[in-house]
Amino acid sequence: MSARPSTAGTGAPAAPPQGVAAGMAARAAATAPAASAAADAVPLLDVNGIEVIYNHVILVLKGVSLNVPEGRIVALLGGNGAGKTTTLRAVSNLLKGERGEVTKGTIRYRGELVQALSPADLVKRGVVQVMEGRHCFAHLSIEDNLLTGAYTRSLSRAQTQQELERVYHYFPRLKQRRLSQAGYTSGGEQQMAAVGRALMARPGMILLDEPSMGLAPQIVQEIFGIVRELNQKEGVSFLLAEQNTHVALAYADHGYILESGRIVMDGPAQALADNEDVKEFYLGVAKEGRRSFRDVKSYRRRKRWL
Ligand SMILES: Nc1ncnc2c1ncn2[C@@H]1O[C@H](COP(=O)(O)OP(=O)(O)OP(=O)(O)O)[C@@H](O)[C@H]1O
Ligand SMILES: [Mg+2]
Repeated sequence: MSARPSTAGTGAPAAPPQGVAAGMAARAAATAPAASAAADAVPLLDVNGIEVIYNHVILVLKGVSLNVPEGRIVALLGGNGAGKTTTLRAVSNLLKGERGEVTKGTIRYRGELVQALSPADLVKRGVVQVMEGRHCFAHLSIEDNLLTGAYTRSLSRAQTQQELERVYHYFPRLKQRRLSQAGYTSGGEQQMAAVGRALMARPGMILLDEPSMGLAPQIVQEIFGIVRELNQKEGVSFLLAEQNTHVALAYADHGYILESGRIVMDGPAQALADNEDVKEFYLGVAKEGRRSFRDVKSYRRRKRWL
């Protein structure tokens, strides 16, 4: 299966990626084909033709459709202001605080329409967002930050301890820093704490906004490695928004490319990584001799006819 320009953005990740690169081989091997076929039938998250308007007038998403099959990592790619964060906020019902609203389309999680739910109810159902910019409580310790993630669950002391240990298992750095005030830890540690806090809610799905932002490449790899581990071992599905196309496609199963509030292309991660337009415009690998405008962004030109 190859990457395709998206028509009305209705592309659905139908099958697992075929020829996965070396970096993706581990996760491909860990996905049982029978189980994945069943999971693909009913997407865990199904976003269908949503339109989002801020302040009653600013139309930002213009009919975005995407889905996340259970047990998958799906990347939402695009440059500054493309609408990635807005899409995640629409799913997690965090638009209200930004004076935004979904004016068209539907969002279903496990088949249930979830647009009318409060963010807290959504967390109870297993959908947790890790916001852009990490958003730790700077004055609290790392451990207290993690504990805030369990607020929707009534856990006993022993259970809470167990959950903390589960997070520390995936993020050993956080265990070392558990008593440090979050504001004084590194950007990478704060990002880990933000993901760890989400994990405390026992999510079925994490919406992860720009986990790579402002972090050194090595830390980015470490964090994405943990994301993959959580996906494989805990069965957590991810919808991750990233400007860092390269790293996102190395770890995701499927990708969608968003431009000016529209999905312009989607496909299995490997197919997107191999696509000439994606290489040129998102991965910074220019193909020799592509000088003519006619050769540029074929999906863009095609889009005008739709
Ligand atoms: N609260 C808001 N009120 C009005 N406009 C907004 C608001 N938040 C975002 N926008 C606009 O919506 C568009 C999409 O923004 P969004 O933050 O979703 O993009 P993004 O893809 O996440 O970008 P980035 O990669 O820079 O984070 C931008 O033009 C932005 O200016
Ligand atoms: Mg954003």
